[in-house]
Amino acid sequence: FIQQIDDLVALAPVIPVLKIEHLEDAVPLAQALVDGGLPVLEITLRSDAALDAIRAICKEVKGARVGAGTVTNVTNLQAAIDAGSEFIFTPGATPALLAGAIAANIPMVPGIQTVSEMMTAMDFGYRRFKFFPAAAAGGTAILKSIAGPFPEVRFCPTGGIRPANANEYLCLSNVMCVGGTWLTPDDLLEAKDWDGIRELARAARSLRG
Ligand code: 3PG
Repeated sequence: FIQQIDDLVALAPVIPVLKIEHLEDAVPLAQALVDGGLPVLEITLRSDAALDAIRAICKEVKGARVGAGTVTNVTNLQAAIDAGSEFIFTPGATPALLAGAIAANIPMVPGIQTVSEMMTAMDFGYRRFKFFPAAAAGGTAILKSIAGPFPEVRFCPTGGIRPANANEYLCLSNVMCVGGTWLTPDDLLEAKDWDGIRELARAARSLRG
């Protein structure tokens, strides 16, 4: 699955991390992000509407590449797959999840915070990781330190990434993309300001290493 993940992250430098509370927002929100140049979307399983949102976006938003995030156990994993997720992000890495995604034949980017967690996941064959929570766990300094001993590993740092610091991450050789919730601020979501969200996506699209 390494190649599939690399192909996905090559589509955009930023993966919006979305919490969709209202199902009716799912399609216009995803459309705005895709139109702004960010087609790869992580729909977190943090709301009751999440699985239906995944279904709706898969069906109705052309060009969107839809994955599930905040997948914390194999029950969630199966529900996310059944809803049509193309890939999976997790905040942490349990052996059950690491084995479960392989058994279910779906690309997964497991969340890790330490070298030992990463090495456990590497034993299962994983080489692409979500570094979470990135800023709180050491930020760019830890990623630079990991690059030496683990040159084959690449990360999607998430947690505390904003436009002001995104490029510090994106310019690292072992960072494949960054993720974050900054593309969907509460005020724009509440106002259903899809144009505003499209403009945030457009600005994020032009970030690069
Ligand atoms: C995630 O699940 O990836 C994080 O909640 C995103 O963190 P952020 O809100 O700091 O972008």
